[in-house]
Amino acid sequence: MCGIIGIVSGSKEDIVSSVIEGLSKLEYRGYDSAGIAVLSDGNLQRRRAVGKLENLENKLEEDPINGTVGIGHTRWATHGKPTEENAHPMMTKDVALVHNGIIENYKSLKDSLITQGYNFTSQTDTEVVAVYMQSCIDKGSSPREAFRQMLKVVEGTFAFVAIFKSVPNKIFCAKNKSPIVIGFGKNMCVGSDASSIAGNCDEVVYLSDGEYAEVTEHDAIFFDENFCEIKKERQKVTDDLINEGLGQYPHYMLKEIMEQPNAVRKTIVANEIPVDLLKNVSRILILACGTSYYAGMVARYWFEKYLKIPTNVEMASEYRYRFPVIENGTLVIGITQSGETIDTLEAMEYARSTNSNCRVLAISNVKNSAIARSADVVFYTEAGVEIGVASTKAFMAQLTVLAMIAFHDRPEVLNELRNFPNICDDILSSVNDEIENLAKNLYSAQSIIYLGRDSLYPIALEGALKLKEISYIHAEGFAAGEMKHGPIALIDDNLPVICLCPSCDVFDKMVSNIQIAKARGKNVIVFTDSIGNETFGDDFKKIVLPNICQECVPLAYVIPMQLLAYKVAVLKGEDVDKPRNLAKSVTVE
Ligand code: F6R
Repeated sequence: MCGIIGIVSGSKEDIVSSVIEGLSKLEYRGYDSAGIAVLSDGNLQRRRAVGKLENLENKLEEDPINGTVGIGHTRWATHGKPTEENAHPMMTKDVALVHNGIIENYKSLKDSLITQGYNFTSQTDTEVVAVYMQSCIDKGSSPREAFRQMLKVVEGTFAFVAIFKSVPNKIFCAKNKSPIVIGFGKNMCVGSDASSIAGNCDEVVYLSDGEYAEVTEHDAIFFDENFCEIKKERQKVTDDLINEGLGQYPHYMLKEIMEQPNAVRKTIVANEIPVDLLKNVSRILILACGTSYYAGMVARYWFEKYLKIPTNVEMASEYRYRFPVIENGTLVIGITQSGETIDTLEAMEYARSTNSNCRVLAISNVKNSAIARSADVVFYTEAGVEIGVASTKAFMAQLTVLAMIAFHDRPEVLNELRNFPNICDDILSSVNDEIENLAKNLYSAQSIIYLGRDSLYPIALEGALKLKEISYIHAEGFAAGEMKHGPIALIDDNLPVICLCPSCDVFDKMVSNIQIAKARGKNVIVFTDSIGNETFGDDFKKIVLPNICQECVPLAYVIPMQLLAYKVAVLKGEDVDKPRNLAKSVTVE
């Protein structure tokens, strides 16, 4: 959450546009406000604006600034409302600072600085850090000493990027839990992720927790937590980091939905399941959040039914706080698109620290992400950069890897999986108009229910999550059999009920659940296949998908759920790619 960027350039020509370009690639991390500060001939200047980046761009056009070193920030508010005063960079007389993370001891630091006579203009935790460094400088410290003293006293999670009035052409940056990447190329740069700086550099270095760097016009030096200089390995910038833009599509979400056949194809080609992956594994523990958690829920059905391995799926945010016991022989699987969700990272670390015998596997869409680096084994989903805040193609790629694990010794299912990109293409082209009509029917609904059973239950949850997060319509997914234990009370003629009913093992049970819903409400919509089409009469609204092997149905049935959410949100005129209050990468607990 929050995107930060820093660029050191020899010339004044393009620093502001380079920072803005970097921020535009980081807006997925937050878009409550944005700001930029530059240093020019010993002058720190700053512009900030509430709302999306374009507001900052407009401001810069009216009131330009220029410099040879610049830092920028796009915010997802934690401490203090999204106002201009709370927008980063935080600036004092001598220092400008951007921050991603949360400073936990900000209150005591602030109280002490107020006692020393310092004033604050924002409600943020970050301003305390800037003012603390200012206080060090006022007491005679050099900028380097001020930065180091600050690192010794702050507690919490952070990626900091700072510039000092008296230090031309140098950026100081440090990391604890929140990501920082340093880029080497035509300009030296710093960013929250590699793709934000990929256009400016050929090689990158990932800072680790506790490390800090001083980045100058042509180089960077790195220090460990004791401030001893260290060497860091550079890595080449690869094509998959480059965001190719919207192309012919009006929104990234639609583009990414349409890219799913390729995401599956590439993920299959890129991954091979080691023969010994499940050797001596007596239990699987899946840790994830949100959509990735639902991918884990699907996998649980597969792992228990086909591999016969007891499997737990845990919401990472809840998991470690109940101090669970981890048995020997547990394979821990962390699933994450971004590779930096703090809840997932911490839950995986908790599992490892509780039982050092367990192996930790990460499924990540981002190469070299914190979670990928923390695991013993990594499978990368090859969905490509996902920009839309609502995850679609990354989920599909996660299901692909999980299916490869679950069905590693069932060649007939693996063949179906290899053929799935064609089915995916078919679904995308065949249901489009029907989903469009359904969206017209549903976009004024107050609330919508999604029902599924077995591996389609997590898809019902995912369908509801997609809808609520981008269209702001209340939606809930239920296990269809659980309806009669309470939620059925909600059903009346005004409540649309979306039912996922392919002809698989639990088909008959699901048919009964749907009949029960239909007896109580007239707006029941069934997603099914040719068998379901015959089973349900013409009084049902039906959308018929191809007949698919039972193992692949979750991958197939999520596609119309994504499209439906997308089309409803577009009809409502919502900002599909940047829904309110959300950010793509969640690095706060
Ligand atoms: C919903 C969505 C989120 C993420 C969740 C975990 O569309 O994208 O629910 O799935 O925040 O993020 P990752 O997968 O990056 O760990």
